[in-house]
Amino acid sequence: MQPLTTDISVAVIGAGAMGSGIAQVAAQAGHRVFLLDQREGAAEAGRQSIASQLQRRVDKGKMEQASLDALLARIEPVNELNELAGAGLVIEAIVEDLEIKRSLLANLEEVCDDSAILATNTSSISVTALGARMKHPGRLVGMHFFNPAPLMALVEVIKGLATSDEIAQSVYATAAQWGKKPVTATSTPGFIVNRVARPFYAESLRLLQEQAADSATLDAILREAGGFRMGAFELTDLIGHDVNYAVTSSVFNSYYQDTRFLPSLVQKELVEAGRLGRKSGQGFYSYAEGAQKPEPVTAAAVSSEASTLVVEGNPGPLAALIARLKESGLNIIERDGPGRLRFGEAVLALTDGRMATERATAEACNNLVLLDLAFDYAKASRLAIAAADQAPLQAVADACALLQRAGIAVSQVADRPGLVIMRTLATLANEAADAALHGVASVSDIDLAMKAGLNYPEGPLRWSDNLGFSLVHRVLTNIQQSYGEDRYRPALLLRKNRFAEKGFYS
Ligand code: NAI
Repeated sequence: MQPLTTDISVAVIGAGAMGSGIAQVAAQAGHRVFLLDQREGAAEAGRQSIASQLQRRVDKGKMEQASLDALLARIEPVNELNELAGAGLVIEAIVEDLEIKRSLLANLEEVCDDSAILATNTSSISVTALGARMKHPGRLVGMHFFNPAPLMALVEVIKGLATSDEIAQSVYATAAQWGKKPVTATSTPGFIVNRVARPFYAESLRLLQEQAADSATLDAILREAGGFRMGAFELTDLIGHDVNYAVTSSVFNSYYQDTRFLPSLVQKELVEAGRLGRKSGQGFYSYAEGAQKPEPVTAAAVSSEASTLVVEGNPGPLAALIARLKESGLNIIERDGPGRLRFGEAVLALTDGRMATERATAEACNNLVLLDLAFDYAKASRLAIAAADQAPLQAVADACALLQRAGIAVSQVADRPGLVIMRTLATLANEAADAALHGVASVSDIDLAMKAGLNYPEGPLRWSDNLGFSLVHRVLTNIQQSYGEDRYRPALLLRKNRFAEKGFYS
């Protein structure tokens, strides 16, 4: 399907944060853009804000003044709906309210040509519901941009029950032509990103509530071991706890209160206290003038008498860590065994979702220290560990000394199922697998959405494949058993992959 050509005008309704950004994107792509807002002066102010933002690019020599002038000349603030009659694509980015949006769409059907595509930037309302009272619901499609629209690459193209394939494909091609990375999804609560990302916030919030570690430590682990751009607490402080809590609650209720989406009391408390994050000056962290960000808890440097690492059996994903330790000059011996490492008093293993204490008892191995997953063990600058209650202090000290030899900062967290990164990945992959099973989007579109929409280092399904077909399933099964909660039930596709010995991509 061909993208809309630039001789087709685009109308954007709502000149707030999203509408102005979308108008900029369309004008940058060469379309004439009508910008309408019901608030007097808002459309002109939207155009002004585009002008002042792009002027900074001109001042830095990143854009020609002539290009900016031409771009601004293509954006026309208008006051009346009738003035949108000539638009071939209308994107609404008005207030998030079903009835107000429905009424706008009804008016647009009166004003616009029958061939015009009507798109909604809604982040939480069903496209099917928005189209239900339209005369031609086939021409309504979701075009979900991310904030800020000019910078964020992802556009979720959402198909309601009645949306025509042709219209969805045309909007997809147009978004790609505008330099975006479009994905296609069905109109289900949270679409892709706002659904699949829920565990990223939920599991950190739960680990905090369970006193696994403090927020600065959990954030540092997510960044430095997980390869995420920001930790969950830094990110929700930025998003705003009112917004993030509302999205979680809306997804939770939309899925009939499935406990997988359970909102957090810790976050509710922040909302009730008015600690909304950066915008209110206080969230998990303080943004007051001169406030210092707390440091993550990091093990002090220790030395160990041990000089040889014994690798017992196939280390699986830890192979890259062992290679790194070898490079640091450590003597390494390999022998048969259950896939563990021995260094001094420490017996180390990658978490399989069980608590260290539980596993140490089951495997009659008192000195067990569990290692968390890293996105890339060759590069991780920090790693979380958790020791069994019965482990002697020397075992923990030797585990720290081993990792520190490779220049890795160690954060010991309390012994909770799945540690931090493994648990985060497993729950993200679980949600992504369920979304794929339910036909919300394709496996590759789900992964792309999580990378382009949230800067994840890898899509959760590809990442899960890379780890091995059965590991994520095993981790979830063990976490579910530890908690005895339905929340961690493994998705059917993960279970199937395990038996088929194949991944999402093979
Ligand atoms: P906003 O509050 O910044 O802007 C909304 C604008 O729409 C306001 O200027 C308001 O005057 C105008 N408006 C309201 N009703 C109108 C009507 N009937 N006709 C014309 N103009 C009207 O809101 P924001 O954040 O730009 O969100 C707009 C839409 O985009 C919502 O549906 C929201 O869910 C969605 N969205 C928001 C994202 C965000 O991060 N803020 C991200 C993705 C989607």
